[in-house]
Amino acid sequence: MEFQPTIVGFLCNWCSYTGADLAGTARIKHQPNLRVIRVMCSGRVDPTFVLKAFASGADGVMICGCHPGDCHYLEGNDKAFRRHQLLKQLLLAYGIEKERLRLEWVSASEGERFARLVDTMTAELLELGPLELPPSLTKVPGPCPETVIQGEVAND
Ligand code: FES
Repeated sequence: MEFQPTIVGFLCNWCSYTGADLAGTARIKHQPNLRVIRVMCSGRVDPTFVLKAFASGADGVMICGCHPGDCHYLEGNDKAFRRHQLLKQLLLAYGIEKERLRLEWVSASEGERFARLVDTMTAELLELGPLELPPSLTKVPGPCPETVIQGEVAND
């Protein structure tokens, strides 16, 4: 069977999730490889969430947040940017290609941009092939991100 990459997407609630929703309501076609996890802010994406996604079988991870200056929590996307820089270095040290982790800014009105990002990342991952995770990264401690996030929603 032909390889189809799995992409885990962490989308901030206020901009990027709405942008993805717009892509859907406007019927903009894109590849079906993205599995969306909605977070309140890109700054909420703990680095362990990314590692856990890879350890759980993702071939790529996309973090999407509000454009710089537009974060609803003021500096959450700055935090996401700094974490992304560090994570890229960490993943490279483990031999994981930098294309497997993306940080993108998508506003609520950018449904078309969101769809193209999904297509681009899917194409890149198809070219790279399945992720071969080093054994030391296959067990990341802690619950899976979705469980944590659902727990937060349930506790709100
Ligand atoms: Fe969207 Fe912070 S609220 S990145």
